[in-house]
Amino acid sequence: MIKLDNVTKSYEMGPVSVNALLGVTLGIERGEFVVVLGPSGSGKTTLLNMIGGLDTPTSGSVTVSHRQLTSSGSIDKFAFRRETIGFIFQSFNLFPSLTALENVRFAADMKGISDALAVAKQCLDDVGLSQRIDHFPHELSGGEQQRVAIARALATGNPVLLADEPTGELDFRTGIQILKLLESQIKADKTVLVVTHNREISRVADRVVELSSGEIVSDGDPKGGRADISDLHW
Ligand SMILES: Nc1ncnc2c1ncn2[C@@H]1O[C@H](COP(=O)(O)OP(=O)(O)O)[C@@H](O)[C@H]1O
Ligand SMILES: [Mg+2]
Repeated sequence: MIKLDNVTKSYEMGPVSVNALLGVTLGIERGEFVVVLGPSGSGKTTLLNMIGGLDTPTSGSVTVSHRQLTSSGSIDKFAFRRETIGFIFQSFNLFPSLTALENVRFAADMKGISDALAVAKQCLDDVGLSQRIDHFPHELSGGEQQRVAIARALATGNPVLLADEPTGELDFRTGIQILKLLESQIKADKTVLVVTHNREISRVADRVVELSSGEIVSDGDPKGGRADISDLHW
């Protein structure tokens, strides 16, 4: 579903070049639940943005759902994201002037889903927010806003879910709810990629890819074996 081949990304900062990713090669199958683990600055967001078509590599190739994202002009990145990607941003990125329902419905509308309103309501119900659909983001807690952001990603029905530190700002109990929601999407045949600096979260993944200074330093089962979400503590 996702294939990166020798991907490098450098940012030119005046005379200095910052290497955010250095020769990353990675393949992710459909239906995998993968956690990319690494400390702050290791390149996690850069990697996710590359897969989501929000950024292009300096060299190497990125293929997602059979589409080559590397040569920018050749595919319509907007159409690619609309058809393929559900992005869950660390800072939620909800429209502040739209209610929870309107935020989710907007995504379904953009996808051209005919019963967008019903789909949006269902997705908000699925994330446990049916009582909050008419609230604006500023009237919701961080955990609730994150759940709206997940409902928005689910409303598109898109096959690849990318989540950037989805539990980063949340208390433990809410973080666990969010993880359960993301994990449950595997059963719906989605491919789920979560990036985090929290090793504890990586214990529930099918597979953990560790990044350090822009390079993959390990790739495999969670250390100590896969844990159940109810066994996590942080
Ligand atoms: N737009 C940018 N311009 C310049 N440097 C950037 C930019 N985005 C990220 N970087 C740098 O790339 C490295 C990796 O960043 P990032 O992918 O955000 O890491 P992480 O998400 O793991 O914290 C960091 O050194 C960061 O400062
Ligand atoms: Mg980041």
